[in-house]
Amino acid sequence: MTIYLNGQYLPIEEAKISVLDRGFIFGDGVYEVIPVYSRKAFRLAEHLQRLQHSLDGIKLTNPHSDAAWTTILNELIARNPAEDQYLYLHITRGVAKRDHAFPKPPVVPTVFVMTNPLPSPPAELLHSGIACITATDNRWLRCDIKAIALLPNVLLRQMAVDAGCAETILIRDNAFMTEGAASNIFVVKNGTLLAPPKDNLMLPGITYDVILEIAAANGIPHEVRKIAVAELFAADELLLTSSTKEVLAITQLDGQPVGNGKPGAMFAKLHRHYQDFKRDVMRA
Ligand code: PDD
Repeated sequence: MTIYLNGQYLPIEEAKISVLDRGFIFGDGVYEVIPVYSRKAFRLAEHLQRLQHSLDGIKLTNPHSDAAWTTILNELIARNPAEDQYLYLHITRGVAKRDHAFPKPPVVPTVFVMTNPLPSPPAELLHSGIACITATDNRWLRCDIKAIALLPNVLLRQMAVDAGCAETILIRDNAFMTEGAASNIFVVKNGTLLAPPKDNLMLPGITYDVILEIAAANGIPHEVRKIAVAELFAADELLLTSSTKEVLAITQLDGQPVGNGKPGAMFAKLHRHYQDFKRDVMRA
């Protein structure tokens, strides 16, 4: 596998960074995950815009223009064999003597990009849906920043794995649902698709945007508003989205069936439209 590190394209085994990198020491950095279909980065402008938002959020100057990022990413896509890939971009505040405050003067940020083959979600998952658990959202108040400091998300996801489940759905202040540990979550009630608002408590998902656009374009009733815990547990259907998972039905929550325990009509409709969109728009 060829990766990009600080201006060089290298085999991953040869890529090395300093133990004093602030990403390693403090988790002081941000990242992006971008799906690539038929060797074309999907919604690149939107992903680069979200990256800029994350960098602004941690007061780190973007090391590259959008044009320079595009060149790097396309070069890396070309150097790797898969037609469908997912890019991982990782930028840290760079290498400096350990001190919580930013290095003064600033040091050169560390820029790392890798790409991996992007598998389609297995037919079995599409057919049966996934099981999730709920847990208290104990993350910080800037979940809109795609920060590399993911320890809360790691621990929350592991709770799901330990329970034999696929994802943990997060509840803030005992009151409302925010998102999954590494995904966005939608609720379906009486034929309406409900999505939590993009605020500081969740990552503004690019796939989340696609789903809401598909709903709007196809006359599917949808509302963006806070979703109470009671609504989560009374849902007819629950859906999970991310760049790597596309859209999946959640058919079990905390050991209880969601609706009739099978992927429902809204999932079927959105999944079909998403596949059409992938074929006609993403791969075009
Ligand atoms: N995660 N919320 C969180 C906390 C996430 O980590 C992700 C994505 C999403 C979905 O965003 P998008 O649709 O843009 O992928 C929501 C990526 C895939 C990851 O960390 O690997």
